[in-house]
Amino acid sequence: MTELPVEQRLQELRAQLRHHAHLYYVLDRPELPDAEYDRLYRELVELEQQHPDLITLDSPSQRVGATPDSAFAPVPHQVPMLSLDNVFTVEEWDDFDRRVRERLGWELAVGVAYACEPKFDGLAVTLHYHDGLLVKAATRGDGSTGEDITANVRTIASVPLRLLAEGAALPAQLEVRGEVLMPRAGFEQLNARQLAQGDKVFANPRNAAAGALRQLDPRISAQRPLEFYAYAIADLKGVEWPSTHSQTLRWLGTLGFRITSLASTGNGPAYVRQAYEMLGRQRDSLPFDIDGMVVKVDDRRLQLDLGFVARAPRWAVAFKFPGQEASTRLEAVDWQVGRTGALTPVARLAPVSVGGVVVSNATLHNIDEIQRLDLRPGDTVVIYRAGDVIPKVMRRLDDDGHEQREPVTLPSGCPVCASAVTRGEGEVVARCSAGLFCPAQRKEALRHFASRRAMDIEGLGEKWIDLLVEQELVHSSADIYRLTREVLLTLPRMAEKSADNMLAGIAKSKQTTLARFLFALGIPEVGESTAALLARQFGKLDALLQADEAALLATPDVGPVVARSILDFLAEPHNQAVIAALCEVGVHWVDQAAAQDLPQPLAGQTWVLTGTLSSMGRDEAGDRLRALGAKVSGSVSKKTHVVVAGESAGSKLANAQALGVTVWDEAQLVAFLKEHEGC
Ligand code: IVH
Repeated sequence: MTELPVEQRLQELRAQLRHHAHLYYVLDRPELPDAEYDRLYRELVELEQQHPDLITLDSPSQRVGATPDSAFAPVPHQVPMLSLDNVFTVEEWDDFDRRVRERLGWELAVGVAYACEPKFDGLAVTLHYHDGLLVKAATRGDGSTGEDITANVRTIASVPLRLLAEGAALPAQLEVRGEVLMPRAGFEQLNARQLAQGDKVFANPRNAAAGALRQLDPRISAQRPLEFYAYAIADLKGVEWPSTHSQTLRWLGTLGFRITSLASTGNGPAYVRQAYEMLGRQRDSLPFDIDGMVVKVDDRRLQLDLGFVARAPRWAVAFKFPGQEASTRLEAVDWQVGRTGALTPVARLAPVSVGGVVVSNATLHNIDEIQRLDLRPGDTVVIYRAGDVIPKVMRRLDDDGHEQREPVTLPSGCPVCASAVTRGEGEVVARCSAGLFCPAQRKEALRHFASRRAMDIEGLGEKWIDLLVEQELVHSSADIYRLTREVLLTLPRMAEKSADNMLAGIAKSKQTTLARFLFALGIPEVGESTAALLARQFGKLDALLQADEAALLATPDVGPVVARSILDFLAEPHNQAVIAALCEVGVHWVDQAAAQDLPQPLAGQTWVLTGTLSSMGRDEAGDRLRALGAKVSGSVSKKTHVVVAGESAGSKLANAQALGVTVWDEAQLVAFLKEHEGC
């Protein structure tokens, strides 16, 4: 193969990485397996390390790396960053619409075209692009001067460092406004991590996003899962301004920005009322918090006619949703015992409506958090609820009685079994020391064992598990398989039919897979995917039981902490007895060959997958080919052995044909896998 000149290879790598990062981070439509992306990225970084003079500011490698800044420089906004007026009711909305038409001098019967979109509950940020390159990012500040947060914003993957051209001309200057936010899932993970490290937890995703943006060290911001949604143009030179807001959004999308898919446009106030109701219904299931719907007059000429008052435009308004925060009285703090014995404090609250849902409990994380907030029963607290997320206590409101109230302390005995509560040196979490002898831990362990993704025991719901434990009919998971009809019928409110269904569910669950079995055991640190990887690595339970640390560490995704946890768990005589008992009562699965013993008919070959496969995802196909020894690549070359082309395959198929590489269709792949995968 002829070596490309370094510059050319760098350009190629950057273009590919940009393209795939856009598919992944902005369009949520990845094409390249993660591992392949990582490989390209590593190649880029290595080449740049060898040729530091060739590093460009817009290189995908330059998102992270800048060193801590001591303060944020002020950035004056040429175009002020305005706020929006709020309306809270349909009547107030109708008034807004009436005022718009009056100002425009329109007859009442004519409907104004409005663009409706979520009001993101994040932080407003403005981005400056010169000749397509991101040169500056700033916060809103007081609206006329913000702070320079360029280094931190560069770490946000959905912010293009360089605009996509897609054939059209790039503006000489562009200032884009939008919102930086943290999706709820990322927020939960961040808080879990903070909690585990004994660091401060954030009250809500907005605060967490604000904290991340104001990090002096961009390397820390880079680890926070932030996203940027573009929603306006503040300044544009060199290209004609789009004539409506809807067109603006679409155009920003083509430049590489993430645009909400929840925007819509329609005529008249009734359309907006409907859109508001619909968005309100979607609110809880969205991946991020929104606190209302922004309604904008769609036509830019009309926007200019309407102009501004004080600090807000006359052509846009925030139609707010009920708040996600509310204050109420903390009645008491109860302690719950989890599967691993961890004691979690739960706030019992005077019932209060938050965002349309009545809340009477909230999580408090741990005793440190209670002490940090200095919460005492009787205090008035502010709680926050978003989506399906469990409500949280955010802070206490000051009042005169607080000092006289009793502080909360960690119980010295388990609230369920009275055994000693221990808290390891430097540990945040306190635990009941009784292990599976504590009924609370036993219930949780059995619930996990029977759950759908573990042993999947139909008919054995949480309610029955609790009863079976309380009546001392089930002590360990193996006891479930020893239950008889007679015993079940002694339970209160157990009907014959339910007993039979439960027994059928229990019997059916005996036939399982090693992966499910390992997950069901509830080994600390071993979640569903680790269990699956262990099953694939070892193939048989015995092989895993005999594995030493080195053998465990050879499993993908298993590091020293997980390996230690597995070894500790398996060394425990009680756990050994339960595993033996489960096998004795007839839990079984089909053993697989261990990964390293499998035949590797494709060793040394490079395969490429392209297009859509109908019988499996491309990831799965890749995994299965790799299991047979193949290297799966994202690009076709003369060295490629086979290109598997699914439905609507594009340039890779064309390349393969041009290079004379063997092309298979999906049926050939399926037949090949069937023949070679064995078992
Ligand atoms: S447009 C001149 N669109 O709301 C209009 N703002 O109170 C400027 N916001 O600080 C704003 N989602 O951060 C607009 N889809 C959206 C928005 C949005 C959230 C925030 C923005 C601003 C605040 C205005």
